[in-house]
Order: sequence, then structure tokens, then C-alpha cells
Amino acid sequence: MNSAWSIYVIVLTLVTVGGSVWLLAMTARKPEKKEGETTGHVWDGDLAEYNNPLPRWWLWLFVGSVVFAAIYLVLYPGFGSASGTLGWSSEAQLRAEQQKYDEIARQTYARFAAMDVAELSRNSEALGLGRNIFANNCATCHGTDARGAIGFPNLTDASWQWGGEPDQILTTILQGRTAAMPSWSGVLGPEGTPQVVAYVRSIAGLGHNPAAAAAGKARYEQICLACHGPEGKGMVALGAPDLTDSDWLYGSSEAAITESLTKGRNGQMPAHAPLIGEDAVKVVAAYVYSLRQDNEVAQSEGQH
Ligand code: HEC
Ligand code: HEC
Repeated sequence: MNSAWSIYVIVLTLVTVGGSVWLLAMTARKPEKKEGETTGHVWDGDLAEYNNPLPRWWLWLFVGSVVFAAIYLVLYPGFGSASGTLGWSSEAQLRAEQQKYDEIARQTYARFAAMDVAELSRNSEALGLGRNIFANNCATCHGTDARGAIGFPNLTDASWQWGGEPDQILTTILQGRTAAMPSWSGVLGPEGTPQVVAYVRSIAGLGHNPAAAAAGKARYEQICLACHGPEGKGMVALGAPDLTDSDWLYGSSEAAITESLTKGRNGQMPAHAPLIGEDAVKVVAAYVYSLRQDNEVAQSEGQH
């Protein structure tokens, strides 16, 4: 606040408080008229107004607020740019609270520093924190239940494009991942595309035209094998997905696979180290890994 504003505020405050005191003095004076007398104003023919003194309690409330204002203005900021004798400020209060939370976070992460992702995934305190970090930073893309959507992978199943081991999950979240599958429409042409689509659906165990699939096999081995592997099982190093399982990032219908081939796919997982810090990434990686463990337990239980 510059000094002109400060003076303006001081004058306004003094006028308001002074005005209140003056009003108080006026009304507290012994009324000349007696109790029960009217002001002499009459409305609607018979509606008159008593001129009684103010009730005592009301007067004391008034005195109380003037005294309160005076004490408040001495202790706290409010009288122009004066900072008040207590030295309180909303900024300092905010800073103190932030420091308190930073300190709690620092102590929590310090306790987790010695543990690796696999250990953290068995620590209930870390998992609780990880669930919160996930809800605030990941759920927008992967869903609150981490089951994903078209173009955003399901993190609770057994299929991992970039690997489901603790270190691989950690690297994915720390550094992000950029999948690069170019468009193949120029290479495959209008004839080759449906053949390769039929072949992909055949190795995935989905309905297909056998003759077209047989023709597509050779093209697959020529072009796609390099990334998706000889059996279509994918390649973690490139983020090339397994084409034989039931987990599809973009869909398994003929139309969806055709679109994957003709347009290409370039899914991007943003690097989160710069966004939320490495400590938080490690904890959320443990949470994601715990989802995977849950799923494996569920699967092995299902097999018995
Ligand atoms: C802006 C959207 C977005 C946000 C936010 C996001 N992700 Fe992702 N994530 C993606 C996409 C898209 C992919 C798939 C990349 C690809 O196509 O290979 C992905 C992939 C992943 C994978 C790899 C899955 C696999 O099969 O290997 C993991 C693990 C993952 N994300 C975890 C997280 C976590 C944990 C967070 C929060 C800290 C997060 N993501 C935040 C979009 C996002
Ligand atoms: C340069 C490596 C590379 C080559 C070659 C390649 N792909 Fe891919 N493919 C990928 C990657 C990486 C992805 C994941 C894209 C993403 O996550 O956005 C992918 C995704 C796909 C998908 C989507 C899978 C899903 O879950 O929705 C299909 C289908 C596919 N590829 C089929 C093919 C076929 C058929 C060929 C050969 C014509 C081929 N790819 C050639 C790297 C490759």
C-alpha cells in the first residue's frame, strides 16, 4: 500500500469510528421527552411513533464494537499500512502452514527413501498416499479406477506395453513414453490393408477371412514383425503392443485396426518427474504396481 492509500484508509477509518462515537454520544444523552411520548409524526391517520431512548443493551453493544475496533486496530493490520503490534499477516500465516505441510511431506518421503517400488507396494501408508497422487494427477487420463479408455491404457490388467515390472513402471512415469507407429497406408495400399487386418485378427483369435489372413501373413512378416515380433507378442523396448491378447488400446474391430494401420498411432505418456517430483513418482509407481499384483492374485484365484 503506498502512503496516499494508507492516509486515505486511515482517514476513512477515523471518520467511521469517530462518527460512531458521535452518534453514540448523541443518542446516549438524556432525552428531554418522557417515556411514552411520540415524535409527533403520524402516518395513515393513526400510526404514531414513540420517542423512547435506545435500550441499554443496544447502547452497550455499540460501545463494545467501538472498543473492539480500537483494540483490533492496535493489534492487527488494518489502520492504513500499520502492521499491528502482533506482527500478524495472512501471508506469513500461509507461509507457516505451507512450511508445516512441506515438512510433513519431506518426513514422509524420507521414510520411503530407503524402500524400492516393490517394497512400497506392500506398505499401506505409501499406497494411501499413492492413491491420492493418482487421483490428482493420473485419473484424468487413466480413469479413477485406472482402467483407462480408448487411447489410454488400462493399468490394472496383465498386459503392459512398456513393461509391468517395478523399474519399468517407474521409468514410464518418470520419463514418460512416446509410442511411434507410423501410417502404413502408403506401404500396404488399399489391397494390402484389409489382408493385414485379417491376419492381425487371426492371431488375436478373432473372426477373419482365412484367405485374406493368409495373404496378410507375408506382409506382416515383412513390415510389422520388426516391432510387434514374429508371433505378434509385441516389444516392450519400443512400446509395441501384444496383438494376440484381448487388451486393445485402440480397439480390435476391423474398423479400429484399419484406422491404427492407415493413420498410425502415437500415444504419449507425459514425463511426470518434472510435474510432481521424483519422490511422488516413486510412490505412485508403487500404487500402480500394487494394482497389477491385485490383478495377478485375482487371476490365479480364477484359475483354481
Ligand atoms: C495426459 C494424459 C496422461 C496422464 C496425465 C497420465 N498418463 Fe499414463 N499414459 C498416457 C498414455 C496416452 C499412455 C500410453 C502411451 C502409449 O501409447 O504407449 C500412458 C501410459 C502409461 C503407462 C504404461 C502402461 C503400459 O501398458 O506399459 C503407465 C504405467 C502410466 N501411463 C501411468 C501413469 C501414471 C501413474 C500417471 C500419473 C502420475 C499417468 N500415467 C498420467 C496418458 C497419460
Ligand atoms: C516401428 C515399430 C512398429 C511397426 C513396424 C509396426 N508397429 Fe504397430 N505399433 C507400434 C507401436 C509403438 C504401437 C503403439 C502405439 C500407441 O501406443 O499409440 C503400435 C500399435 C499397433 C496397433 C494398435 C494396437 C492396440 O492395442 O490398439 C496395431 C493394430 C498395430 N500396431 C498393428 C501393426 C501392424 C499390422 C503393423 C505392420 C503393418 C505394424 N503395427 C507395424 C509399433 C510398430
